[in-house]
Amino acid sequence: MIFVAVDEFEFILRKSVDETQCDAVAIGLFEENLQRNELESANALSEEKLSKLVEKKEFAAKEGEVLTFYTSGKQQKFFAIGLGKESAFSTENARKLGAIVSKAARKAKVKKLAFSMLDLKLNLISFEDFTRSFCEGALLSQYKYSKYKAQKPEEEDAKLSQIALIFESPEKIERSAFKGKILAQMQNAARDLDNSPGNDLTPIKFSEIANELSKKYNLNMTVFEKAEIERMGMNGLIAVNKGSDLPPKLLVLRYFGKDISPASTALALVGKGVTFDAGGISLKPSDGMERMKGDKAGAVAVLMALCAASALKLKINVIGVLPITENMPDGKATRPGDIVTMYNKKTVEIQNTDAEGRLILADALAYTQTLKPSAIIDIATLTGACSVALGAEAIAIMANNSELVQTFREAGLDSFERVWELPMWKEYDDYIKSDVADMKNIGRKGQAGTIAGAVFLRHFVGDFPWVHLDIASVDWSDDDRYYKTKGSDGAGVRLLTYFLEKMESKQ
Ligand code: BES
Ligand code: MN
Ligand code: ZN
Repeated sequence: MIFVAVDEFEFILRKSVDETQCDAVAIGLFEENLQRNELESANALSEEKLSKLVEKKEFAAKEGEVLTFYTSGKQQKFFAIGLGKESAFSTENARKLGAIVSKAARKAKVKKLAFSMLDLKLNLISFEDFTRSFCEGALLSQYKYSKYKAQKPEEEDAKLSQIALIFESPEKIERSAFKGKILAQMQNAARDLDNSPGNDLTPIKFSEIANELSKKYNLNMTVFEKAEIERMGMNGLIAVNKGSDLPPKLLVLRYFGKDISPASTALALVGKGVTFDAGGISLKPSDGMERMKGDKAGAVAVLMALCAASALKLKINVIGVLPITENMPDGKATRPGDIVTMYNKKTVEIQNTDAEGRLILADALAYTQTLKPSAIIDIATLTGACSVALGAEAIAIMANNSELVQTFREAGLDSFERVWELPMWKEYDDYIKSDVADMKNIGRKGQAGTIAGAVFLRHFVGDFPWVHLDIASVDWSDDDRYYKTKGSDGAGVRLLTYFLEKMESKQ
């Protein structure tokens, strides 16, 4: 089920269009290119036709503008793609461009496309970053969750199977194209997993898939089963699982890209893996509840980022810790008011069974401390309040370490999975005070719900450098836009991988 729609897609690198067997050629043009009348090279490929069309004002190179025509002599399909203003061109524009070009090609039933970068002059970003982002966008935009559709998208449409990037020194951008492809493949796989319904991707199935991927990407995986989880005293995870007929799992995955010496440490990534969140006894409203199949996106992001780290052979050690369960209502389910003793012996009054993510993460975080990592990063679709605060434009970040936040800021800008910091001032601790236990699992009604989730988790990380990422705001898309596709977005895969890459270069 993994990599279904994208496996046969390839990027090739060539020095000239003539070295390819493409069905169509595309170029990108800035508004400034038109103003400066720089169309010679484009004309060399398209034989004068483009100038005429520009003269007739049929093409102004605005961002996203696509002009399609046949060259007169060669009878070759040609796309001129508007890049907007050169002075505002970023890696995110390159990512969108990848999507625009490949969608246009696909619509025109092109199977092999050549995109010429020969006369592209980039001032603000490098060709490496351009290539990587372009490839990400191209491949991400081809995705569709079609596992349960009788008619697959590739049958409806011609399938774009190859993009040749034309560049004078292809070897310079080879690694970048590879990185872009890996990142997009891993994110597309994450989308597949996130979009899988709760009756398909159960906790058992999750651990089977993780096992398969571990073999493919050389990860070491340990699975803690229910009895072991009980014995260890992970009562937060057990409490959430009580209403479910399916047993919970705790997966620990290790990627060792660096020598294993006593002194070498690993970064720990902890991901929330709720395969379906009905809310438990504090049942969610039925409207939109189907989206809660995506409540495992944090765990999925960690899993696919580990695969990406391995595919990219990053010289870094990473441990993934994934608590996996459903959150269901039942006669045996946890009741509001129940008090549980967590893995680190702190007691929690569960006032709302729908605030389950922090319960399973708390145990996973406390357990992660015993592995002595250099830092702990957790990622979760934790609070609906996150969308209230940030809309769909940013991931909320909260941390006890400003250096790590800064690295995530940079990774966020590079991946365009941007993060925005919220405070965790000590006054917020009052929000989760309980009359009967060490803390309760919810804050004050209508007040800083995302922060309340974070300060709850802070009780379970000790003195370790720690970052909490709330991705509940960004993981869902209502429509296809550029490289985003309808449904779950596989949020966090690019952000985490870019982060790991930055950490690799820092050590
Ligand atoms: N999984 C949800 C958060 C969520 C909401 C993710 C919408 C994606 C979209 C989480 O388990 C939850 O239910 N949170 C509650 C917390 C509240 C009870 C304190 C929420 O946000 O309402
Ligand atoms: Mn919930
Ligand atoms: Zn949840």
